Amino acid sequence: MPPRPRAALPCLTAAALLALALVPAPAAAEPTATWDAPLALTPPMGWNNWAHYMCDIDEAKVVANADALVSTGLAAKGYDTVTVDDCWMLKERDAEGNLVTDTVKFPHGMAWLGEYLHAKGLKFGIYEDAGSLTCERYPGSGSPEGGGPDHYARDARLFASWKVDYVKMDGCNLWVPPGKTKEQAYRDAYNSVARALRDSGRPMVLSASAPAYFQQGEWGGSDWHKVLDWVGETGQLWREGRDIKVYAPNAPATSRWSSVLGNYGYNRWLGRYAGPGNWNDPDFLIAGAPGLTDAESRSQVGLWAMMAAPFILSSDVSALTPGGLAALGNTRLIGLDQDPLGRQGAVVSSNATFEVLARPLANGDRAVAVLNRSGSPRDVSVPLADVGLPPACVADAEDLWTGRRTEVVDALTGRLGAHDTAVWRLTPRGCAEAVPTGQINGLGAKCADGASTSGVGSVVLGTCTAGADQRWTLGGGGRLKLAGECLTARAGGLVELADCAPGRQAGQSWSHRRDGTLVEETGGQCLTAPAAPATPDAPAERLRLTACGDHQVDQAWSLPV
Ligand code: GAL
Repeated sequence: MPPRPRAALPCLTAAALLALALVPAPAAAEPTATWDAPLALTPPMGWNNWAHYMCDIDEAKVVANADALVSTGLAAKGYDTVTVDDCWMLKERDAEGNLVTDTVKFPHGMAWLGEYLHAKGLKFGIYEDAGSLTCERYPGSGSPEGGGPDHYARDARLFASWKVDYVKMDGCNLWVPPGKTKEQAYRDAYNSVARALRDSGRPMVLSASAPAYFQQGEWGGSDWHKVLDWVGETGQLWREGRDIKVYAPNAPATSRWSSVLGNYGYNRWLGRYAGPGNWNDPDFLIAGAPGLTDAESRSQVGLWAMMAAPFILSSDVSALTPGGLAALGNTRLIGLDQDPLGRQGAVVSSNATFEVLARPLANGDRAVAVLNRSGSPRDVSVPLADVGLPPACVADAEDLWTGRRTEVVDALTGRLGAHDTAVWRLTPRGCAEAVPTGQINGLGAKCADGASTSGVGSVVLGTCTAGADQRWTLGGGGRLKLAGECLTARAGGLVELADCAPGRQAGQSWSHRRDGTLVEETGGQCLTAPAAPATPDAPAERLRLTACGDHQVDQAWSLPV
């Protein structure tokens, strides 16, 4: 580790102090963090060119979008990190091994761009790749294919010299040496990247793309879960999956809504990894850009805010629709996303029409969102009890889109347009603390279900229905409760719903570990999902306890918050 920079404390005369006071503040808003101060205590916000311009990027476009962030007021609201994505460099390093900026695209170079952004009060982000080549086959920082020295330290020093504040490290073309698994190779590479950035002496946020190179479907495989478990030791945020659909200049009207839902889909189960300094990144905000209606734009902002996702626009900022701009610039939604508790919201209920999410907030408030997946307007009614408020609770409910406040006694109600999302901030009054309430999701993103079973009290994994038989509460003492009964370990590895015994009871106490396992505390075994039924009509098999494995997908569970 390099020595810490020592703060100089010169002895100043009154005249010198006066002279200092008269010197205009430096134009560049330098980050104030010391090099080992925590980074990204709330989800990063800003802009990146990729989903709109892809490789068709240059200085003028970056500057125009930076200027637009300022002139629209978005920068002052927190969208402050401007990141240049892939294709900014030449295809070869220079004789010393340094990356070379393409000066046809960026005539003033990257140090100039950093200065320009800093002078506007913005931060500077840049793209590189932890493999041998970027995804568009420009030089990466990693070892060449077949082995050899990497450039992590050299590139980190170069970025530091350009006063970069944020590095998006992609994971294309990463060489896997013989004898290592792909997962080990990524782990080593991203650890090296993190070390190189630290050793550069400049605080730079690291967006690590490693998990995205292991994603298989919405619930993922074992390696994906392994990578998600360690990636937060390397970076402050990470892409876990597919890209958001990029803008198609030749077909601008092409809908991008299913891409928003797809990325929401894989991100919603991963809240256990999120917290201050560590964020799941379901990719860019394309709200207000071609391909989304106003309602769909609101939904992306609302769902991303519920999930404490990075708020990184990727669009032509000066061409945002008025509705999209209003959603993105809504300070109540931004405040929700940036809530200092940093707890990612979780799914309360879901079916083909509605999705209900809840998120606990730093001041004791609780945010609730309802997405209307259907193509037509729908009436919504969400009982306060369903989102975890104890009986007899009254809540002040602020509609975060409008700021309108109402007193709610029994249920949140309203009418929701097609593909729209309502978001409320509830301030409970005169009642005990809210209780985490909602789905328990496992293998295949299915729901733990206590009713659709063949045996009394047994629990199976079924399609999510939003029904009461899937609405669990997390009780004190590690209890998992459904309809007043406790999930209980029985002999022979069975689990079932049974009366809750008082106190901390053997067989009824569960701990949820970071790897997603639900461990029954007495026997130390893990709740395990059954394999998918052989045929669609075969009766669902029950959940069981088995020995805990290493990031088994059938032992990972997502819990209410
Ligand atoms: C992808 C990444 C995109 C963009 C692109 C550049 O892997 O997910 O966001 O960075 O590479 O080539």
